[in-house]
Amino acid sequence: MALINLLTKKQIEVLQSYLNDDWKYLILNGAVRAGKTVIDNYLFLLELKRIKQLAEREKEPHPQYILAGYSSNSIYTNVISSIENQFGIVMKTDRHGHYHLFGIDIVPAYTGSVRGIGAIRGMTSYGAYINEASLATHEVFQEIVQRCSVGSARIICDTNPDIPTHWLKTDYIDNHDPKARIKAFSFTIDDNTFLSKDYVESLKAATPRGMFYDRSILGQWVTGDGIVYQDFNKDTMVIPRNRVPDGLDYYVGVDWGYEHPNPIILLGDDKDGNTYVLEDYTQKHKFINYWVKIAQNLQTRFGRNLIFYADSARPDNVNEFQANDINCINANKNVLPGIECVAKKMREGKFFIVDTAAEGLLDEIYQYAWDEKTGEPLKENEVRHNDRLDALRYAIYSRNVKGGFVPWT
Ligand SMILES: Nc1ncnc2c1ncn2[C@@H]1O[C@H](COP(=O)(O)OP(=O)(O)O)[C@@H](O)[C@H]1O
Ligand SMILES: [Mg+2]
Repeated sequence: MALINLLTKKQIEVLQSYLNDDWKYLILNGAVRAGKTVIDNYLFLLELKRIKQLAEREKEPHPQYILAGYSSNSIYTNVISSIENQFGIVMKTDRHGHYHLFGIDIVPAYTGSVRGIGAIRGMTSYGAYINEASLATHEVFQEIVQRCSVGSARIICDTNPDIPTHWLKTDYIDNHDPKARIKAFSFTIDDNTFLSKDYVESLKAATPRGMFYDRSILGQWVTGDGIVYQDFNKDTMVIPRNRVPDGLDYYVGVDWGYEHPNPIILLGDDKDGNTYVLEDYTQKHKFINYWVKIAQNLQTRFGRNLIFYADSARPDNVNEFQANDINCINANKNVLPGIECVAKKMREGKFFIVDTAAEGLLDEIYQYAWDEKTGEPLKENEVRHNDRLDALRYAIYSRNVKGGFVPWT
């Protein structure tokens, strides 16, 4: 069968570079679902075969290789189970948690925190495959590089884009010094010709404009500029109460504050995934008893199971709610995935605010801007608040996030 039926053009380019170029680092970066991991999984198997022969020549009885990823979950999902599906090769861990293939001892390393180094400290590796490399702690990445001390050891990475000043971009991808022997390939979603046109079109249409689109569709290393919620449109998204359907799935977002405003925001979702912001109870300078009463009133109206997704930074307040039989749980506070989730609802026209609850939120939405240095929203100050937007994000994201790995952390 011709290669073009098995691989995309971009993947063939990568394969040719793998086979013919002199490289130490091969870095695939760019859009999501662009075909990076599929080809890297293939190269990983080729590397293991190459190392097997090398080790035999060097009479090394126990060659080792590092398989790195953000967490044990993400290594399993992105690499191990993909390899099972792609090639029908089943990989099982031994009692040390290592994998074995073609006579190579494959040692997993978790790059999300410095604790992930433990498994590889002191080891001598014939190479490394690093999945989702931009999410790696810099220290762990450097440790992996140092462990690859066998002369011919090579490192394969794939990664989604991050801020343009990220070390992986400045120190590696943009390093064109021939002595560094770095090959980098940049992918856009259109490089993946195995995805159906419909799928790609609807993914493009649903992706919030600005930073999220530029990164996940175009594969660019950019920060946001301007306001965060670019797809918000007051004319279509602020609606009178009588346009809200009855019988929604109700829930609440809470961001604790005393000197700062303390928002409690009631939301409801309909069966089609439309989200309605219904009531906004934001106040400053109120003690917890006041908030318990507000919450109990909401419970009376919407049932004892009404979930309050709250800021975990004040466990005392969360405890007080729970002690009063309020179904209060810690929200998922992941900033960028949370913002992306809310922005996506706006982009898809599935986000509405009832006019009586809109005033404070509109103020916040219009001054919620990106910090171009950090790639996150600008911090709060005397004139700029985003307390309501935090409560809104906690509620919507906690409600929608599926378990497991979330990128952009
Ligand atoms: N060579 C290929 N043959 C068949 N399907 C492919 C191929 N490359 C990619 N795909 C499809 O595209 C999806 C996304 O590819 P993946 O490599 O996981 O993207 P990325 O790592 O860039 O996010 C895969 O799950 C697979 O369905
Ligand atoms: Mg991938």
